[in-house]
Amino acid sequence: MDSIRIQGGAELRGAIPIAGAKNACLTLMPATLLSEEPLTLTNAPRLSDIRTMSALLESLGAEVSALQDGRVLALSSHAISSTRADYEIVRKMRASVLVLGPLLAREGHAEVSLPGGCAIGARPVDLHQMAMERLGAELELRDGYLHARASKGLRGAVIEFPIVSVGATENALMAATLARGTTVIRNAAREPEIVDLAHCLRRMGAQIEGEGSAEIVIEGVDRLSGATHPVVADRIELGTYMLAPAIAGGEVECLGGRLDLVSAFAEKLQEAGIDVEQTDKGIRVSRKNGRVRAVDVTTAPFPGFPTDLQAQMMALMCTAEGCSVLEERIFENRFMHAPELMRMGARIDVHGGTARVTGVERLRGAPVMATDLRASVSLILAGLAAEGETVVSRVYHLDRGYERVEEKLRACGATIERVNAG
Ligand code: EPZ
Repeated sequence: MDSIRIQGGAELRGAIPIAGAKNACLTLMPATLLSEEPLTLTNAPRLSDIRTMSALLESLGAEVSALQDGRVLALSSHAISSTRADYEIVRKMRASVLVLGPLLAREGHAEVSLPGGCAIGARPVDLHQMAMERLGAELELRDGYLHARASKGLRGAVIEFPIVSVGATENALMAATLARGTTVIRNAAREPEIVDLAHCLRRMGAQIEGEGSAEIVIEGVDRLSGATHPVVADRIELGTYMLAPAIAGGEVECLGGRLDLVSAFAEKLQEAGIDVEQTDKGIRVSRKNGRVRAVDVTTAPFPGFPTDLQAQMMALMCTAEGCSVLEERIFENRFMHAPELMRMGARIDVHGGTARVTGVERLRGAPVMATDLRASVSLILAGLAAEGETVVSRVYHLDRGYERVEEKLRACGATIERVNAG
């Protein structure tokens, strides 16, 4: 298992290209199942999760070709040979559940393994199930699989989510495009990845209104055509790299970054004393002098502060002046980076979904362990500012969601390298 070794202390200067969004690509790829015609995704990120989704779609009979060094994905599912998403693949990536809606809409049946929990929480799929049942499917949980059937096809319905769910909104949106009649999704997720999916489905001929708001209306159509669609920029990668100069000092321009993708996060950075500016090439972030100020953060569905940037923000608050309170309201166990940061000298007091961080002058490098995707990168950010050497182990978590993180940071002056465990 690879590790990443960082010598802290270097200020960062330079530019970092922001890739296409992992969480947009993971819902755009299953959309190929909705049409017999080819779907081409450009600006695709090169990540292990994308390769896992490709393998899942191929196990269903789709063809997926990674062109231009993986930047372009050419997908086609002319004929679907299986509607079973096997546990062996699904257990590696929860987003596999996003084949449920498209398979039901296209084939009228699906057997999708329950993903099981992951480090950050139980990750239930009851809202996905509720949405499919509202559209007329019958679902039964048996031997760890959701067995779904819509023998008469799907029909439009009103789907009212009790809580905001990104994945359940995506499954409902995709399924509704081919359901007979009108579907209204209420309390829909408003994330940019939902908007990007709606734009792609509309290119394929879907009739959708209201994406990005809490109510999305879909008029079902008989069939969808192929399309070519650029994957939206990754707002979580963007926020992560905006934090790099904030924590290490210096100035970095995140190429392709758009402020509208990270407005709540950018406001918090500015409140902490960091300069954030939209340029014609992206977002420039700089930390002039002195320590950052402690700020309080509460995670919420978009347009609130993203849960996927909570761990990274905590790393910044560890060296801030004062005490900050971070409330994690989306997942039940998303502070596993805290004990690792404390090994580096951070002062963090965790009670349930609340972490109180008392900033210290400097962290000290130490061997630490990655536990999940976003926790891994928060440890790397902490290592950039720490005194001495930090070695982050189990970086396979990192490679799920970040392309060549050590190369992007080294290009801006960080002393960072990947150590192959052989
Ligand atoms: C998506 O996960 C993202 N993953 C997550 O990013 C992100 O943290 C999350 O949305 C929230 O923004 C992808 O897009 C592939 P949810 P998802 O359904 O769809 C509960 C990363 O680091 N819930 O919005 O699974 C759930 O337990 C990953 O890139 C139910 O109760 O998230 C959670 O508490 C991590 N029943 C809350 O809703 C359900 O049926 C929000 O989950 C579904 C969800």
